[in-house]
Amino acid sequence: MPARITASVYTSHVPAIGAALDHGKTHEPYWQKVFGGYEASKRWIAAHRPDVVFLVYNDHATSFSLEIIPTFAIGTAAEFAVADEGWGPRPVPKVIGHPELAAHIAQSVIQDEFDLTIVNKMDVDHGLTVPLSLMFGQRDPVQGAWPCKVIPFAVNVVQYPVPSGRRCFMLGQAIRKAIEAYDEPLNVQIWGTGGMSHQLQGPRAGLINREWDNRFLDRLIDDPAGLAEVPHIEYVREAGSEGIELVMWLIARGAMADVARGAKADAARGAPKAKVAHRFYHVPASNTAVGHLILEN
Ligand code: DHB
Ligand code: FE
Repeated sequence: MPARITASVYTSHVPAIGAALDHGKTHEPYWQKVFGGYEASKRWIAAHRPDVVFLVYNDHATSFSLEIIPTFAIGTAAEFAVADEGWGPRPVPKVIGHPELAAHIAQSVIQDEFDLTIVNKMDVDHGLTVPLSLMFGQRDPVQGAWPCKVIPFAVNVVQYPVPSGRRCFMLGQAIRKAIEAYDEPLNVQIWGTGGMSHQLQGPRAGLINREWDNRFLDRLIDDPAGLAEVPHIEYVREAGSEGIELVMWLIARGAMADVARGAKADAARGAPKAKVAHRFYHVPASNTAVGHLILEN
């Protein structure tokens, strides 16, 4: 039996959420409004435990400086150390990779014309660890471990030019094809992180756009191919300079069965639309709007 992508998860990765978790502030009223939106998610993932999470995120100049800026980087290592900017490395377990599946995906996706950067050693920051904490809860950094393997997939949304939504969506389709051709019965989830609207710099710092964010969520569910045509400048104009992180969600969405292409599309044509298992939106967390969605195949 081959591996299967069973669900996609989308969530903001705000570093202050990690700090709130790590410093025991989750019960403060401000943070309760954020964490309350993830209670259903923790129950859901306990019932749908993945073997591997393919985790799309962006590095925040933690592992990649401005000296080397890969557009798409796949982590093929056996493990990844936790590091960060700002508050520093979070006290969470190291991340265990899946080198065989990652190498298989790299082979397939690169032959499918997406030029990934292969990264055999890298540290992972809040972009990756905050979503893990939100979905799985806090884990002891020494005794504990994350309950699944993780393939980190870093996308450049920090230094222009950034990849287009269309390319991200098509890359997701290629990732699906790769995973479904891996000959081991793994339950794989694909996660897209970052967003929603936020701007951390310049005269528009603090920008939030609830209407645009919620329309993005609507279209991600019902019209992902149309949403993929939105140019990067609209993200920046409507969702702020850091709102561009949302293009990464299109990689995860492109990997769902209802938008599969190529040989698999025939089988998938009759397949039902992705099912919404959970949806949550809240303002504010730190300087951002928090958005969260779980879609099942
Ligand atoms: C903030 C949000 C981010 O996504 C990030 O990467 C860094 C900071 C913020 O809200 O301050
Ligand atoms: Fe970020």
